[in-house]
Amino acid sequence: MNTTSKIAVASLVLALAAGASYGAPASENWENSCASCHGADGKGQTKQGKKLKIRDYTDAKIQAELKDEEMVKAILDGVKGENGKERMKGFKEELSEADAKDLVAFIRKFKA
Ligand code: HEC
Repeated sequence: MNTTSKIAVASLVLALAAGASYGAPASENWENSCASCHGADGKGQTKQGKKLKIRDYTDAKIQAELKDEEMVKAILDGVKGENGKERMKGFKEELSEADAKDLVAFIRKFKA
């Protein structure tokens, strides 16, 4: 095998390893799918966030009220209000359970 094809094989292997076993990191998922409502800083002070009265994830009291399992469920299945209307869509189609757990860990870091 010449050098060029060795490099080609090596980069193919790297690309496969990177793509196959890992989803996007939580920070990237947050930025792409969540920050429009919850805010890049988790405070929910976006236009959408204010309208929807989203909780401030930097508030330790709010963090304490939220249970990890409930958060994972909210991310995957979505959140409905008391009137049964959808408040947040579920992300089952886009995210795995592992992605959702990573996002919960990511949200926990907003706590001041
Ligand atoms: C369309 C706006 C919107 C988007 C996008 C969105 N959310 Fe939400 N999210 C909400 C609303 C509204 C609630 C319900 C808040 C409430 O009822 O207090 C909520 C609730 C939650 C909850 C349950 C805890 C709580 O505060 O009630 C978690 C966890 C959560 N979102 C995480 C995420 C993650 C992670 C993403 C991205 C994958 C995301 N959200 C994307 C609007 C959104």
